[in-house]
Amino acid sequence: MRILAIETSCDETGIAIVEASRTSPIPKTIKVLSNTLISQASLHAVFGGVFPALARREHAKNIIPLLLHALTEAGYTKQLKTSRILTEKEERALAKILHKELELFELFKSTLLSLKVPPLDAIAVTAGPGLEPALWVGINTAEALGALWGIPVIPVNHMEGHIATALLKPSPLSTTLYQLSTIQFPALALLISGGHTELVLMPSVGKYKMLGQTRDDAVGEAFDKVARMLGLAYPGGPEVSKLAEKVPPTEKLTIPLPRPMLKSGDFDFSFSGLKTSVLYAIKKFENFTDHDRALVAKDFEDSVTEVLLAKTLTAAKKYKVKEIILGGGVTANKKIRSSFHEAVARELPATKLFIPHILLSGDNGLMIGVAGVLRSKSKKHIVANGTLKLAKSVSPTLAELRKKK
Ligand code: KG4
Ligand code: ZN
Repeated sequence: MRILAIETSCDETGIAIVEASRTSPIPKTIKVLSNTLISQASLHAVFGGVFPALARREHAKNIIPLLLHALTEAGYTKQLKTSRILTEKEERALAKILHKELELFELFKSTLLSLKVPPLDAIAVTAGPGLEPALWVGINTAEALGALWGIPVIPVNHMEGHIATALLKPSPLSTTLYQLSTIQFPALALLISGGHTELVLMPSVGKYKMLGQTRDDAVGEAFDKVARMLGLAYPGGPEVSKLAEKVPPTEKLTIPLPRPMLKSGDFDFSFSGLKTSVLYAIKKFENFTDHDRALVAKDFEDSVTEVLLAKTLTAAKKYKVKEIILGGGVTANKKIRSSFHEAVARELPATKLFIPHILLSGDNGLMIGVAGVLRSKSKKHIVANGTLKLAKSVSPTLAELRKKK
């Protein structure tokens, strides 16, 4: 099965082409024929966050050139002797799909009609969650390609994509080949990105139960805002982390930052107050030196890590999970990665821990391709859903009550 995958939920245009081995029900290997990305991060940096209208415009500008790049890498750009001429019906159908993206439509026709139909079985595209104007560019392109090439389109939940990426293990045989681990249930997923902080129980394949989530800012968002306070560039996560690494492990902030909701007794998170505490901590310094900035960055990172780790371990023990899966851009954080590896090995040695490869932690096309392979359920008309949920929130106490009955 070969899938073209498209990701445009935020400020990264990602396109991948993947080939899954035919073993059923879950393929054992994924071959990456292409995984290309254009990041808009530097354009959004002046706004200190992602500006949706700009994101949409950039996705629309970049998506076809990026697609051609991916098709070329996969060896799928064989030229037709004479370009395909659309019938009136086809032209109308495509114009309907791309009626809000007129420039994209022109580019689509001028580049794709001269190509042979590539040997693809389906197109996977992010349907949400994310910025709706940005999501629509990916969805419309996917549907137009689906119509042009006569193949189905699979809607993918972006967060499921982050989970799927963690299951990829690079193969020693080739840099483009990955082994795909099968999940042992029940599993627990901690999803940490720019828009999400969720602890999700996975009782069986494709089923999700929300145990807890952030009540305000997402972890990545908090990293980005703290970075701004410390005068660092957007996206702030990697910058805060780099700064924190400069402090020796034994050196601590005199008055430590709070560890929000560490003892709340539930699986919810809150990072907005921590951000405010960072602001107060900065103000307390008379002369805020570079070393002080690094100390604040480190204690912020430590606080976030401690809270994420404590809640995840508590949930893992409570629900006796066989595996813990981390996903989302914040999993690129080295402190978080090493703390989880150490703590899970120490406290839950029988539990497997999956964290995405550091280069696949952030948004990319491959994650959507892998989730698309696992879902394989196509849909006729996909609607962008900025707040698409992975799981319905369940109160664990209610679930337990039901069990006791
Ligand atoms: O998953 P992602 O790429 O996009 C969303 O779906 O939101 O996550 C992006 C977030 C940003 O907030 C970014 O600052 C954060 O991930 N991030 C990090 C690191 N690298 C990226 N946060 C902490 N440490 C990092 N090394
Ligand atoms: Zn993401």
